[in-house]
Amino acid sequence: MLEFALRNDVYRRPLMTALDRLGLREGWRCVDVGAGGGDVSGALAEVVGRDGRVYAVDSDPLARDLVATAAAASSQVVAITQAAEELLLPEPVDLAFCRFVLMHVLDPAVVLGRMGGAVRPGGWVVAQEPITSAGRVGGRPLSMPDARHPDVGAELPALAVAAGLEVVDAWAESQAGAGPGPVADYLASLTGVHPGDAAVVLPPLVTVVARRPVN
Ligand SMILES: C[S@@+](CC[C@H](N)C(=O)[O-])C[C@H]1O[C@@H](n2cnc3c(N)ncnc32)[C@H](O)[C@@H]1O
Repeated sequence: MLEFALRNDVYRRPLMTALDRLGLREGWRCVDVGAGGGDVSGALAEVVGRDGRVYAVDSDPLARDLVATAAAASSQVVAITQAAEELLLPEPVDLAFCRFVLMHVLDPAVVLGRMGGAVRPGGWVVAQEPITSAGRVGGRPLSMPDARHPDVGAELPALAVAAGLEVVDAWAESQAGAGPGPVADYLASLTGVHPGDAAVVLPPLVTVVARRPVN
């Protein structure tokens, strides 16, 4: 849970930038693919309100309990155990969202395609994925060899186009710091090594805001 809470802290700004760019509103139906601890699901639920709905989908059954705890106050959050590659919802949604997920799946193109299929025509697909090797500690590149696609962020716009989506906007952002604080703590949770006073640039997150074509 600690890592999720820290992620929420240091990557909340890119999340808010994306939701703002999108114009997420009350009443929207959304899916948070690879919801994990439910940070994003909770943030979406706050905006869509009681008339909206957030499906929190994750292949790990443990995530269901985490989401249930994190979003206990939000009756509109529905946790589902399902692989993103087989994404199937009870209704078309206005927004399909994922963050730090395509970097772990076997084939990011397949998952983006399922997300596109889950939204209504004209609906939104938003992905936020890192370029981990563009992060820096003391000037040196970071690496995340455990992830299947550690730099998938760099490919996101092209992957969205290949999935038949119209890319409306795309950008990259991350936080930087030196010395004690949430940036150093997050890096320590990610790598197991505390950076001390070294300068840190966290892996930039590439955000793609795309739409499913109407026809
Ligand atoms: C690094 S966590 C990200 C959690 C959350 N999206 C966030 O940003 O805080 C990745 C999550 O994706 C889930 N995941 C990985 N592969 C998946 C797949 N093929 N289908 C669904 N969920 C998957 C994992 O179980 C995990 O909860």
